[in-house]
Amino acid sequence: MDQQILDQLAEDMLSLVKNEEPSQQNIGVGGAELILEFVQKPGVKDSLAKLDIEKKVRLWGSRGSGMQILLHGADTPKQGSPHDHGRSWALYFQVSGVTEMSSYDRIEGIPGRPGRAVLEKIQQTNVTPGNAMFFGPLVIHATQHSKPPARWIRVTGTDLDYVERLRFSIERQEAVIEKKYS
Ligand SMILES: [Fe+2]
Repeated sequence: MDQQILDQLAEDMLSLVKNEEPSQQNIGVGGAELILEFVQKPGVKDSLAKLDIEKKVRLWGSRGSGMQILLHGADTPKQGSPHDHGRSWALYFQVSGVTEMSSYDRIEGIPGRPGRAVLEKIQQTNVTPGNAMFFGPLVIHATQHSKPPARWIRVTGTDLDYVERLRFSIERQEAVIEKKYS
């Protein structure tokens, strides 16, 4: 992967939110356009396809802080549990295959807090190649990949491994704090 075009992508993404709060308009639309241009550059799709998605693939960003550009993938069927990204925003951009994305409202429990949580699914969207979905802070969502393989780029406002966020169990009707490192 050519570091220079990744640096350029990151710089362009960051410039979108230099003087504005991250939003559907700037990151959700403008950011998705930038990533589309990025993946359409010669050789980029092939380079992405060759990366080993079993490990965490950080395309751009510094561990622990600041915006992160990550590559994720599913080579076998996967179903993720509902979660939020704490105070961070995120943009999911589909490179290949399909991400079945569900969004939820928390109809019981305190927003952003662990404990009792009853979720109601409010939207399900198939995110297909070239398309993206933006999530602001605390928005609850879950991914499913029932027809792998799939590859997607996820851009987050900060390194989520260092952010306190929630993971939800629909069966147990509860939210627990997830934080890898402090
Ligand atoms: Fe997420």
